[in-house]
Amino acid sequence: MEKLLAGKCYREVWFGVLVSFFLFFVLLCFDYSTSILDVYHGVDFLVIQHVRPFYIKDSCFGRYIYIHDHLPARFNYDLLANCHSLSTGSKSLSDQGANTSDNMCPHLVNSGLGPQIEKPGKVLANKSWFLTNPYLLEVIFHNKMKTYKCLTNNSNLASAIYVPSYTGLDASLHLWNFDLKVRDASAKDLVNWLSRRPQWKKMWGRDHFFVTGRTSWDFRRTSDNGSDWGTNLRFLPESLNMSMLSVEGSCWRNDLPIPYPTNFHPASDSEVVQWQNRVRKYKRHHLFSFVGAPRPGMQNSIRGKLIDQCQASSNCKFVHCGSPGINCNDPVTVMRVFEKSVYCLQPPGDSHTRRSAFDSLLAGCIPVFFHPATAYTQYLWHLPEKHTKYSVFIPVKEVEDLKEGMIEKTLLGISNEKALAMREEVIRLVPKLVYADPRSRLESEDAFDSALQGILERIENVRKVIREGKDPSTGFADEDWTKFMLAEAPEQ
Ligand SMILES: *[C@@H]1O[C@H](CO)[C@@H](O)[C@H](O)[C@H]1NC(C)=O
Ligand SMILES: *[C@@H]1O[C@H](CO)[C@@H](O)[C@H](O)[C@H]1NC(C)=O
Ligand SMILES: *[C@@H]1O[C@H](CO)[C@@H](O)[C@H](O)[C@H]1NC(C)=O
Ligand SMILES: *[C@@H]1O[C@H](CO)[C@@H](O)[C@H](O)[C@H]1NC(C)=O
Ligand SMILES: *[C@@H]1O[C@H](CO)[C@@H](O)[C@H](O)[C@H]1NC(C)=O
Repeated sequence: MEKLLAGKCYREVWFGVLVSFFLFFVLLCFDYSTSILDVYHGVDFLVIQHVRPFYIKDSCFGRYIYIHDHLPARFNYDLLANCHSLSTGSKSLSDQGANTSDNMCPHLVNSGLGPQIEKPGKVLANKSWFLTNPYLLEVIFHNKMKTYKCLTNNSNLASAIYVPSYTGLDASLHLWNFDLKVRDASAKDLVNWLSRRPQWKKMWGRDHFFVTGRTSWDFRRTSDNGSDWGTNLRFLPESLNMSMLSVEGSCWRNDLPIPYPTNFHPASDSEVVQWQNRVRKYKRHHLFSFVGAPRPGMQNSIRGKLIDQCQASSNCKFVHCGSPGINCNDPVTVMRVFEKSVYCLQPPGDSHTRRSAFDSLLAGCIPVFFHPATAYTQYLWHLPEKHTKYSVFIPVKEVEDLKEGMIEKTLLGISNEKALAMREEVIRLVPKLVYADPRSRLESEDAFDSALQGILERIENVRKVIREGKDPSTGFADEDWTKFMLAEAPEQ
């Protein structure tokens, strides 16, 4: 595989050198004050974009992104204007008995970060902590995109086309509707609009991407049965050609996972460093902890047994999120415990992934995973490939596999040295896992920057395939269930 790629690269470098030479002579005939990029307008960008000629100092080369700003407001801004009809949680607001004042409106402030936390106490830093609703990742991402330093209004020049749709908020209006015509209407409308734009034709949409704060499953209904979950967005032919960044991927390769937003959105590099230093100093009284609720309705949930094991151990702290007076949406409740724990248990919830995994990493608490799809096979752009460097893996295939006392025994078996090294790695990861405040610009790479780098590379690879005259659909949206299978023996 490596060899094959190297061979291809070699050919392309030579091709690039030839093109560069040609352009160099063209340039000699130009007044040097004309923008180098203007010269490119007449050239087929698909061909030359890949290799940056030596005389081009443009740091944005290969990273230009075009925002589909003319997207009709019904796909984004109108949804925010109608925020009183958007649900903040996993239930429909139109349900009878739903509390309609608990809607998305108060969460939209501060560019989608939500209201600033007024009483951070000793648990959070004084600044830059917000009550962030994870579904608003699509709004936060859009706001960050607006100040991205390599934007272009010339879509021919762009390496990627960003579609600023709030696809998850839109879906949430009708996800609970049994009438599939109503549930799927907006998805169809969106792809119809996109595929009729001139930008579509260049790569049949394969350079298009959009972002959502919901899991990919919410757009992956496989049947026409109204009692099945989700819209059919990701199975529409146009949608197959696009990439979607979401907080949890599915088993189709054009769904690409990016971190859940946490409540920390630093406005400067020094705030990140201060936070890292602070987390390093915490005294961790609990060996391990679990913050969450059981899933009595889910037969194959390991949470019940996990909670039993936690409660049976004096080394474990359990916070029951469903119990009265305990608000786990308040980051003070969660972070207080994570900051005092060496290990944080991260069993799957309603789906494989949990935002809590990112809270745990942020708090310098080493996550303990029970399924590879909770993190390892998801966040490939953001987490190290070698998961033993920053986490503990206790694979549990069947609930019965979680033997009594097994969690504590495993964690007690890890040396102090190893634990310290893992924690240091966790703390090192923090800058790349937070979404910095969209109103400021940081020097260090955050989760947004890594996501863009990932998607740009992916699209560049597709371009390469097209240049080589091959079929770009090969592998683009294939099914890959291995991501959700439990490896018998986890790789060390
Ligand atoms: C409805 O939600 C609002 C906002 O979250 C809250 O202040 C209020 O207490 C809730 N009312 C009921 C009856 O739960
Ligand atoms: C936060 O602010 C309070 C009051 O201004 C101050 O006493 C405290 O030291 C600050 N804490 C941190 C961690 O900066
Ligand atoms: C694109 O065009 C809009 C409106 O003409 C302008 O406000 C914006 O600054 C332009 N953006 C770039 C990156 O040139
Ligand atoms: C749709 O799914 C439900 C629940 O799984 C099932 O009871 C029902 O028979 C299905 N309807 C059709 C038309 O297949
Ligand atoms: C998707 O891409 C392929 C080329 O890979 C193209 O033939 C097809 O027409 C595209 N589909 C749509 C709906 O544009």
